[in-house]
Amino acid sequence: MSLKRNAYEKLYSGFLSKFPEDYAINLGRSFLRFPIEFLGRYETDDERLLTKIGNCELPNPVVLAACYHEPYIIKKAMKLGFGGVTLKVTKHPKGWNSEPTIVRRGEGFVNCVGFENLGMEGYKKFLGSYRKPKPLILNITGDGITEYLDVIRGMEGYADMFELNISCPNTETGLNFSKYPENAKELFRESRNLTEKPIIIKLSPDREFVENNYRRIIPYAIDSGVHSVNFGNTRSFEDERLSMGSGGLSGPDLYENMLVNVERIYDKFGKHLKIIATGGIDRPERAYEAIVGGATCVSYVTGFVTRGPLLAKGINRHLSEKLDEQGMESIDDLVGFWHTP
Ligand SMILES: Cc1cc2nc3c(=O)[nH]c(=O)nc-3n(C[C@H](O)[C@H](O)[C@H](O)COP(=O)(O)O)c2cc1C
Repeated sequence: MSLKRNAYEKLYSGFLSKFPEDYAINLGRSFLRFPIEFLGRYETDDERLLTKIGNCELPNPVVLAACYHEPYIIKKAMKLGFGGVTLKVTKHPKGWNSEPTIVRRGEGFVNCVGFENLGMEGYKKFLGSYRKPKPLILNITGDGITEYLDVIRGMEGYADMFELNISCPNTETGLNFSKYPENAKELFRESRNLTEKPIIIKLSPDREFVENNYRRIIPYAIDSGVHSVNFGNTRSFEDERLSMGSGGLSGPDLYENMLVNVERIYDKFGKHLKIIATGGIDRPERAYEAIVGGATCVSYVTGFVTRGPLLAKGINRHLSEKLDEQGMESIDDLVGFWHTP
């Protein structure tokens, strides 16, 4: 998978990557309208890959990270080999920011797409009549604590897990909880009171918040009974080509820092936390490294765009091979394997 380029990768590098980013992304979205799920077999039947975040069981540890809001993409992603799929939602519907909202940088992107989505009432209509074949993670962003809580309350019957986005670099209030962790304490406690479903805290990879993450945010989460984190979101990045002049960097440039932090979080809090590793995972070897470094699940967005819909399958196959090599019965035995004395 890493050496041979599949047809999608050739299509991306030879065709899609030549177009302006916003246009290419929209083309990619249109591509997902085709019945590509019938072109091959995406799902794994290796039961050793089954894992759990809190009380939620995932058929494998590969998750589509927050980015998409369109019901047809969520439905499609559910058939492309992922163990779980993330949908972003805010209390009220939101439109898009003015273009350009996404530009290429190296093998990744810088985006200021904001939170275009149907709002929770819109998603109730969609999810009310949809039988999800895989766990659905709702990634929530709000203007203030009340909006997050309203979404959890309203969507409790529709989601399998909630992810609190406290680390969006491209909105005015997106990083407030990372900057002022005292407010996050109340958010975590009140969220925990509303649901027994797993709650995941999406952390910022920005250097300025490293200490807040380790000294305040993660300990506050654990004290509140919240036992999962996602490291992490895009990194704050200035880019004059964007309509807002800055946005969030995604893709391979995030990978090294993500891995260092996953290992550090696992060393420090691994007994109390499940970790989802996100940032630059765009090949099977990287997913494996994140898992042996301490992550229970891996997730990605940029890899879905640049490597295409077969990446989840490639990762799962690689993980199965690693379990064979080690003679292990469960993916959970690989989690933090590098740390085993
Ligand atoms: C276009 C785009 C939109 C995103 N929207 C969200 C979002 O709404 N909420 C969130 O927590 N993260 C969001 N992210 C961040 C991704 O979920 C992920 O954390 C980040 O892109 C790093 O992973 P990657 O390198 O695999 O892309 C977005 C990323 C991109 C590229």
